Amino acid sequence: MRRLKDKIAVVTGAAEGIGLAISQMFALEGCKVAMCDINLSKCETESSLINKKGGETIPFECSVDNSSQMENVVKAVMNSFKQIDVLVNNAAIAVQGNIVEMPEEDWDTLMNVNLKGVFIGIKTVLPHMLKKRSGSIISLSSLQASRSWNDWTAYAAAKGGINAMTVQLAGQFGNQNVRFNTISPGAINTPMNERRQKEEGESFLKASIDQAAMLRLGTTEEVAQTAVFLASDESRFITGEDIKVDGGLSALPRYIEN
Ligand SMILES: NC(=O)c1ccc[n+]([C@@H]2O[C@H](COP(=O)([O-])OP(=O)(O)OC[C@H]3O[C@@H](n4cnc5c(N)ncnc54)[C@H](O)[C@@H]3O)[C@@H](O)[C@H]2O)c1
Repeated sequence: MRRLKDKIAVVTGAAEGIGLAISQMFALEGCKVAMCDINLSKCETESSLINKKGGETIPFECSVDNSSQMENVVKAVMNSFKQIDVLVNNAAIAVQGNIVEMPEEDWDTLMNVNLKGVFIGIKTVLPHMLKKRSGSIISLSSLQASRSWNDWTAYAAAKGGINAMTVQLAGQFGNQNVRFNTISPGAINTPMNERRQKEEGESFLKASIDQAAMLRLGTTEEVAQTAVFLASDESRFITGEDIKVDGGLSALPRYIEN
């Protein structure tokens, strides 16, 4: 059974990592996908690979912090398909920085992509969902919104902002059948973490693995499966929810009675 048959989705940050896995799995489930990324050539390559296997995707060059680029994507999708059923706010950048030393420009750059980008995505897509009185908006948050990590204040603050926005909007638009949910991954094996590993060394990933109950990194497919569920009608009574896909990172440390 194709769980997303006849649905139309916009996925941001779709050229690699979790956004790519979501686009691939959505297409397998019968969804048509607008794949948006700043890396157009990678997006085109991945889109054509999906289409060769029978999927239907369209690549777009779009930076999520640029409202006119996002408006162009939404216009093109509405012209072609007349509806948008699912928005996945996935694009984000990882910028580390001790709060005392972090340049203001780094804070602004991160907030523009990771938090304002979600605002722009929702602002642009929501009117079409409200007209149809149907839609699912899924935003990629992080376990870092609820657990302390050294020197990831800005990244965590943006993710906390996404969680707060999601609850606000779920309450406001539930009566119009538009749902808002977040997915909070733990440590997932993606290019983002490969880059961090190169910059910071092996130890940070080892620490993530050692602190997850399941003692491994997650895969992009494991996150994408949760996105399929939230995009599908199987989750039609779920809104304002955050689903952790973290291999039990948030379940530890355990209380041990001596
Ligand atoms: N990888 C993890 O362990 C992890 C953990 C928790 C949360 N997340 C979240 O999951 C999401 C995906 O992470 P990932 O690890 O797959 O990242 P990634 O860096 O591997 O891929 C991100 C994609 O977004 C694109 N992108 C970057 N800036 C953009 C912009 N301004 N506009 C449009 N596209 C842009 C990149 O080109 C890339 O294709 C992010 O929201 C991230 O914060 C990841």
